[in-house]
Amino acid sequence: MSPQSILPTPGITDKLLVDSENMTSATETNTIRLTHGEKYLTSSWYKGSGEIAHKKDGRSFEVSATFTLKAEVKVVEGVFQPANETLANIYNSRGRCVAVIDQTVNELYGEQIRKYFDAHEIPLKMMAFRAWEADKTPETVHHILEFLGKDGCDVSRSEPVLIIGGGVLSDVAGLACALQHRRTPYIMVGTTVVAAIDAGPSPRTCTNGKQFKNSIGAYHPPVLTLVDRSFFRTLGTGHIRNGIAEIIKMAITDDAVLFELLEKYGPRLIETHFATLGEDEELAEIADDIIYRALFSYMKHEGTNMFETYQDRPHAYGHTWSPRFEPAVKMMHGHAVTTGMAFGATLAVKMNWLKPEERDRIIALCQSLGLTVYHPILEDMDVMIEGQKNMRRKRGEGGLWAPVPRGGIGACDYIQEVPPELLEAAVTEHKAVCGNLPNHGAGVEMYLSDLGLK
Ligand SMILES: NC(=O)c1ccc[n+]([C@@H]2O[C@H](COP(=O)([O-])OP(=O)(O)OC[C@H]3O[C@@H](n4cnc5c(N)ncnc54)[C@H](O)[C@@H]3O)[C@@H](O)[C@H]2O)c1
Repeated sequence: MSPQSILPTPGITDKLLVDSENMTSATETNTIRLTHGEKYLTSSWYKGSGEIAHKKDGRSFEVSATFTLKAEVKVVEGVFQPANETLANIYNSRGRCVAVIDQTVNELYGEQIRKYFDAHEIPLKMMAFRAWEADKTPETVHHILEFLGKDGCDVSRSEPVLIIGGGVLSDVAGLACALQHRRTPYIMVGTTVVAAIDAGPSPRTCTNGKQFKNSIGAYHPPVLTLVDRSFFRTLGTGHIRNGIAEIIKMAITDDAVLFELLEKYGPRLIETHFATLGEDEELAEIADDIIYRALFSYMKHEGTNMFETYQDRPHAYGHTWSPRFEPAVKMMHGHAVTTGMAFGATLAVKMNWLKPEERDRIIALCQSLGLTVYHPILEDMDVMIEGQKNMRRKRGEGGLWAPVPRGGIGACDYIQEVPPELLEAAVTEHKAVCGNLPNHGAGVEMYLSDLGLK
């Protein structure tokens, strides 16, 4: 039998497009594009297609496939007020809602959530568990999987799990959803500032690994993120401050207007927990505007690069060295990130990418909000160099690709490599710059307290 005659032929139920049939040499390929019928979709959020190219020799072929997902982000009011039908509309047709909730959030909002689903006559199966930074482990992921799996709720591959909590919960429960049936959709209701504007809509689900934060995980974004700032009312002020760090990050790298809004309103946003304490309608509107701008900037870059197939990622600003030093000194994530951002700004000045006065403006904003801009751990070159090594591996060995501001606030570029001499010189300069600041650049409530901040 000739190799040509044994080549596979199109199946009768598939819609096929044969691109090239004129194979004249053994290396030439015949490409078949395959589109699957809509009726076979596993769930409405995910699609895919691909093509298979077989060679004339009849002994080799190549496949390329594309996975498409739809992820929506909405700033909403009163997500668990019975009049708000967003979640009811999703879970009504499914006959139940399977939810995972942070224990503290359950204590504060559990009753309201149960009443919401009761009012809409939707049975609710909700597991509450402690989700502190110390609980961000593979064991916790297993624990959630027991709840979702065969001996628990037996969640189907098309059933969106509801996740309600902060960044720790979105990371571990998101990862559990990525593992359940290899991919189960989920809806995220972020109840902290970090979860609302960063960890919540993020595709990066994970647990901590030994000595290196967030090192085990999967890319699995929520299909819907609902951002409702009313949850911030009960959040410790330290956690509000911590969360604003991620908004500053997007302002510096992508949105100069957002930076100006933070300079003007940042302290009041912390004081009023994003206009949820007191009744200031004008500030409430500004708070929503700031949240929306931060989300848009973030998803503009993150959402169009969901699987981190590219390393030009502005939202990694402040996250190059901090994953190594954050657990070492047990800093709160936001404080570690602002330390990384402030240091990155000094590095950018050293490279002539940024003017000293622009770096000083960045430091002044962080300091006005009580965020850390300097920590002596920066001087530990072993930690810093190891951090770079880890990050280089994580970013694919093509470069360190450290994002830092370039050409002014609101834009950034990526440093491909930071040689040890430059790293050390930048640390020395940053120490000198921060030496005159109150507390030498330390922030308010900068250390992690899993007992919760008041
Ligand atoms: N995946 C990502 O892209 C990404 C991005 C940023 C941060 N993160 C991760 O997020 C984590 C930090 O998240 P976080 O700051 O939300 O911390 P967190 O999840 O630990 O929550 C902070 C504390 O607030 C409590 N809480 C949550 N909502 C509350 C509410 N409305 N009222 C009162 N208390 C409430 C929690 O129980 C917890 O004690 C870190 O582990 C970080 O690595 C991930």
